[in-house]
Amino acid sequence: MEYVLTATKTEARAGSYYDKIWRLYDLTFKLNGYGRSLDQYFASHPPPVSRGSRILDAGCGTGLLTLALLRAVNFPVSITSLDLSASSVTATRKAVSQSEGRRRDVRYLQGNVLSLPFADNSFDFVVTSGALEYMPLEDGLHELARVISPRGHLLHLPVRPSLTSKLLEIGFRFKHHSPADVLQKTANHFDVVDHYKFPRLQAIGWSKTALLAQKI
Ligand SMILES: C[S@@+](CC[C@H](N)C(=O)[O-])C[C@H]1O[C@@H](n2cnc3c(N)ncnc32)[C@H](O)[C@@H]1O
Repeated sequence: MEYVLTATKTEARAGSYYDKIWRLYDLTFKLNGYGRSLDQYFASHPPPVSRGSRILDAGCGTGLLTLALLRAVNFPVSITSLDLSASSVTATRKAVSQSEGRRRDVRYLQGNVLSLPFADNSFDFVVTSGALEYMPLEDGLHELARVISPRGHLLHLPVRPSLTSKLLEIGFRFKHHSPADVLQKTANHFDVVDHYKFPRLQAIGWSKTALLAQKI
């Protein structure tokens, strides 16, 4: 694993917290069918990538979204999975190495979404789920927009307010951003292409939506 870490004490707090609780996070989101819901989402909304696309999973946690991407994309792409929590990045590496399929071009990095160790326009597609809730929204979106190439895409799965989200906020120590704020701040850098509401019958639908946006 590469180590490129620039984080203030406040930012680093989320990383050390996930170093302690990543197993609980992984179990919770495996039990609630998160991976299956992501598979269904990508089946109806194919990732906007082509052969050789450069993809970043920003705040990859234990790799559940990285794995869903690998299941959804049947041609070679290069994926970078980055998280503040070293234990989570290690868990992602292990999960990918144990997953089925052809050789995986994934690199793993401990790093901070607020200070990404990449040049401008480094990625064609950035995915992020559950990470921007740990930081000021505009700062996170600004940094993600910086590394996305012109007309590249961002897939953001923001937490939406609900009873389930309240419980998750307590358990996982984050704060959701209001949906109006998410749309408004996204529009500072991107055109919103699609705003998807997950079915309420799926657990993911109780706490998240999916916002696909294209860099202006
Ligand atoms: C709720 S988990 C989501 C994990 C994963 N994206 C998923 O969908 O399962 C949030 C993750 O964001 C990471 N995180 C929080 N702040 C971060 C930051 N400033 N930079 C990088 N990762 C961060 C945490 O370490 C944690 O692994």
